[in-house]
Amino acid sequence: MDKLVIHGGTRLKGEVIISGAKNAAVAIIPATLLIDGICTISNIPAISDVKISCKILQELGAKLTWNTPNEVTIDTRNITCANAPIDMTSKFRASYYLIGSLLGRCKSAVVGLPGGCNLGARPIDQHIKGFEALGANVEVSQGKITATAKKLVGTSIYLDMVSVGATINIMLASVLAQGTTIIENAAKEPHIVDVANFLNAMGADIRGAGTDVIKINGVEKLVGNTSYSVVPDQIEAGTFMLAAVATKGDLLIKNCIPEHLDCLTAKILEMGANVEYNDDSIHVFANKRPNKANIKTMPYPGFPTDLQPQIGVCLALANGTSIINEGIWDSRFQYTAELNKMGANITAQGKSAIFEGVKELYGAPVEATDLRAGAALIIAGIVAKGETSITNLVHIDRGYENIEEKFRGIGANIQRVVDEEI
Ligand code: UD1
Repeated sequence: MDKLVIHGGTRLKGEVIISGAKNAAVAIIPATLLIDGICTISNIPAISDVKISCKILQELGAKLTWNTPNEVTIDTRNITCANAPIDMTSKFRASYYLIGSLLGRCKSAVVGLPGGCNLGARPIDQHIKGFEALGANVEVSQGKITATAKKLVGTSIYLDMVSVGATINIMLASVLAQGTTIIENAAKEPHIVDVANFLNAMGADIRGAGTDVIKINGVEKLVGNTSYSVVPDQIEAGTFMLAAVATKGDLLIKNCIPEHLDCLTAKILEMGANVEYNDDSIHVFANKRPNKANIKTMPYPGFPTDLQPQIGVCLALANGTSIINEGIWDSRFQYTAELNKMGANITAQGKSAIFEGVKELYGAPVEATDLRAGAALIIAGIVAKGETSITNLVHIDRGYENIEEKFRGIGANIQRVVDEEI
């Protein structure tokens, strides 16, 4: 098994460039299935969730040409099949977007139940409720979802809870439906706006993305013939902001949209570090131990659950006692047991955790229990005295492009040791 080996005790300093957003890219790639034409997508992060998404598209008959490692031209004129290969779709969470996209294009979709990080129960009942409201018949059996429709007709759909995936998936299914679809209690994350902008650039008529009511006027065809650049990754930017805080570092985080991180910035200021916004970069610098702070994760624009483990490292090192309440997932504190192996003093129970701040962390062998937990452990390893080794990198590689190169570029002593060398 590959591992990351970190020799810690480093204060991070320098500049880092943020990649395109994972959670936008993994929706935009299947969304190309709705186009009967060719489009080019740039600023795509080179991560394994994107690679597998692209492979599935090829299996369905799309032609992909990589112009650079971060730009692909996709020709979806000859989609031959609405059955996505189940062994591939079960590898990542965002494979659920194939249901909305294939249903929209072919009025038929067969997709394996999605995989991804184990953060507790991850139902997709709201996605199914949306597809059914549009006129589809949906069955879940033997590990796969089969959705079929004679036609899809726009309607009003009120989501029972704010769901990123359901909001995007219903948007995908309704873009080519007859009439108008209204999604109420919609999620407002930046990548929802990005997917809507992409679809509109291709000829869709979606209004209100970024608010809690999204209106989709069905169109006959998406034409493509244009290019689109994926929005910068707000979570990757936040990860480096928190790495600066935890290591008492000084980082200029480039190619990001500062306003997407207002909520994190407010917390970083409360923790006593400094943040400066420029047009498309953020400067974070810290020179003392973080202050304690309490966090509750919420849908955007609240504090993002996907930055909870990374801020957890800062709170593990803070001056005083902090509490995190996880508002989205049932099981997002598995990383705390790993941090405790490094000398942290965290008590997690259910959806809350108490962080008794310690002055120092110490290197230890730890395991990345999920994607963002992996990022948190890298930050912890860079702060900690001595050597940390992190295994189960498959999670980290799903969502962070060139992560060790990026951390090395700002001073971290981090190496990937591949299997045969171990
Ligand atoms: C997306 C992100 C993930 C992030 C999460 C919350 C992607 C690929 N992943 O996941 O990184 O942590 O948003 O910001 O974009 N729920 C239901 N029924 C449903 C759908 C959701 O009960 O049909 C619940 C979930 O269990 C969870 C909450 O709603 O408690 C939010 O989930 P959702 O926003 O849908 O998360 P994902 O789209 O899976």
